[in-house]
Amino acid sequence: MMISSRASPLLLLVLFMFMFSPSSVLSKPNEQGFEFLKHLEGCHKGKNLKGVHELKQYLEKFGYLHYKNHSAHANDDEFDDLLESAVKTYQLNYHLNVSGSLDSQTVNQMIKPRCGVPDIINGTTRMPSGKKKHQHGPLSLHTVSHFSFFDGEPRWPADKTHLTYKFISSVEVVPLQTLRPVISRAFAKWEAVSQFTFAEVQPGSNSDIEIGFYSGPHGDTRSFDGPRGVLAHAYQPTIGVFHYDADENWSINPNTYQVDLESVAVHEIGHLLGLGHSGEPNAIMYSYFGRGQVKRDLQQDDIEGIQTLYK
Ligand SMILES: *[C@@H]1O[C@H](CO)[C@@H](O)[C@H](O)[C@H]1NC(C)=O
Ligand SMILES: *[C@@H]1O[C@H](CO)[C@@H](O)[C@H](O)[C@H]1NC(C)=O
Ligand SMILES: *[C@@H]1O[C@H](CO)[C@@H](O)[C@H](O)[C@H]1NC(C)=O
Ligand SMILES: *[C@@H]1O[C@H](CO)[C@@H](O)[C@H](O)[C@H]1NC(C)=O
Ligand SMILES: [Zn+2]
Ligand SMILES: [Zn+2]
Repeated sequence: MMISSRASPLLLLVLFMFMFSPSSVLSKPNEQGFEFLKHLEGCHKGKNLKGVHELKQYLEKFGYLHYKNHSAHANDDEFDDLLESAVKTYQLNYHLNVSGSLDSQTVNQMIKPRCGVPDIINGTTRMPSGKKKHQHGPLSLHTVSHFSFFDGEPRWPADKTHLTYKFISSVEVVPLQTLRPVISRAFAKWEAVSQFTFAEVQPGSNSDIEIGFYSGPHGDTRSFDGPRGVLAHAYQPTIGVFHYDADENWSINPNTYQVDLESVAVHEIGHLLGLGHSGEPNAIMYSYFGRGQVKRDLQQDDIEGIQTLYK
């Protein structure tokens, strides 16, 4: 009783701050994932429209924009040169018309659910960077690979071919007995085409990789965004972290409102091993992934990617 009467002014203050803080307003776009981008359809350079700064945040989050010390426009609604060039790079990556404006195809691509790992890590390369390394003879754009690596091509050391993983979640979304075979099958896909073997260890043990469900900001560099939007993320070697966004509807047999656990695991394991995103829509390493979609098998592009990285 004593504690509650002493705490109550503080509780009231906290409650007051919660009810009136800008974060309850700011969290609104997140409830619809990236749907806020729809209001910007038709927007182009020179326009000043409410919501353009959120487009900047989107492109910054996924590696296309690095305002910081280039421009005063980082946090305003001005569609400036830098934003236009970021939109163009995005359009190149996703095989859209390179108009630099937010046409309907571009908006429709951007609002799809996706992986939280940026497409371009350092702002210097375009996503399908495998292209350069695999160009045999003259420009033959139809036969090139589209896989990419993280900046600096981080990979597991040559003598580290057996990797251990454990499950640690902040929220139980899927029971461990359901998750375990899903993750095991996903690792087996990469085992079949690489030097790697994988084994689960108990939660108390040391492991190379940690896998689990987390919600919102959760102590790493990439906060989740609530329902929709970003589905999951993982880090490059040798960090060994793969998180599912706990606020999505996860399933082992998805309907049109659910996301397939195994497909997303196969993708995120690609990041754990050192692959970046691919510009090839059929590849496992393609950034976007739909609700209800099932894509669990590695494609030629993914296999070439991993085999090139660990040649
Ligand atoms: C940008 O930031 C870096 C490091 O923070 C700094 O060294 C550099 O001088 C800055 N460039 C400009 C143009 O302000
Ligand atoms: C590109 O532009 C043309 C003509 O404006 C249009 O017909 C086509 O659908 C566009 N394609 C994409 C992928 O946006
Ligand atoms: C970005 O790329 C440059 C040039 O390749 C490199 O020197 C720098 O370390 C990279 N930065 C990061 C954060 O990886
Ligand atoms: C989860 O599924 C329900 C229907 O079962 C749907 O209304 C809701 O929007 C879905 N949530 C997400 C994040 O997709
Ligand atoms: Zn990804
Ligand atoms: Zn995380």
